Amino acid sequence: MKATAEYDITGAPSRAPVYELTNVSKTYARNDVVALQDVSLTLKKGSFTAVIGSSGCGKSTLLKIMAGLIPPSKGRVILQNKAVTGPRRDIGMMFQQATLFPWKTAVENIVLPIEIRDGKAAAKLAMAKAHELLDVVGLKGFESVYPNELSGGMAQRTSICRMLITEPAVLLLDEPFSALDELSRDMMNMELQRICADQGATAFLVTHSIQEAVILSDEVVVMKPRPGRIAEVVEVDLVRPRTLDMMTTPKFGEIVDYIRGQLDKGEEM
Ligand SMILES: Nc1ncnc2c1ncn2[C@@H]1O[C@H](COP(=O)(O)OP(=O)(O)O)[C@@H](O)[C@H]1O
Ligand SMILES: [Mg+2]
Repeated sequence: MKATAEYDITGAPSRAPVYELTNVSKTYARNDVVALQDVSLTLKKGSFTAVIGSSGCGKSTLLKIMAGLIPPSKGRVILQNKAVTGPRRDIGMMFQQATLFPWKTAVENIVLPIEIRDGKAAAKLAMAKAHELLDVVGLKGFESVYPNELSGGMAQRTSICRMLITEPAVLLLDEPFSALDELSRDMMNMELQRICADQGATAFLVTHSIQEAVILSDEVVVMKPRPGRIAEVVEVDLVRPRTLDMMTTPKFGEIVDYIRGQLDKGEEM
């Protein structure tokens, strides 16, 4: 992730496409489940997109295909002008569980992707950056702490650092804060927004929470199930930076209600 995102004259992220999905479908051979059907989607550089839909409508499948972890049955996934055919350096991922190694300290966990990729010497060089990142997420002083001494929120902050250490251009997030209490979750979301803006990252978030989707996103992709398809892409034209008190404004409420209506419609089909 580079701090070189281009901005247009209004200060909004430039509109160059980063990710381009064209007619992506996925049928799991094992059970013949059509998890995704004809999903086409463009993510623009520096944008924040959330995808929302009921359980089983294919959100995680979509994310895994975008990450190159599983292949689509049909369709194309292009990231930064190159087809995604497997895991890539320019993709950062984060899941619901922090999955830190208990026998490694916070910084050791953070530099692990570098160690796996480039070896121990490179990991040692990356330590300074790991310290900086811990500072960014408010964990200065916790460098040598082991995961069992971290709260859930602190562990997720550490895994944010681990995702950022390789400077990915895009962040793929599968319900990263859903295991946290509501207060911590709100705070982590604001932090995520700040980090994405600072680093010029393009973010794609899977969430169950309409509120979370709306407060963070430029666009919310609403999915409908069986087979998983895009029902609608809803634009969120709230000003940035977003603040938690925006969640009490009528405009926020209107967008949330609209998306809830679209989700209910999807369920009836
Ligand atoms: N590895 C798999 N093998 C077979 N079926 C799967 C697999 N993963 C997911 N599915 C099925 O595909 C559908 C979409 O799943 P998933 O992408 O996990 O949905 P979501 O993340 O929206 O809950 C579900 O019906 C699920 O049972
Ligand atoms: Mg899922």
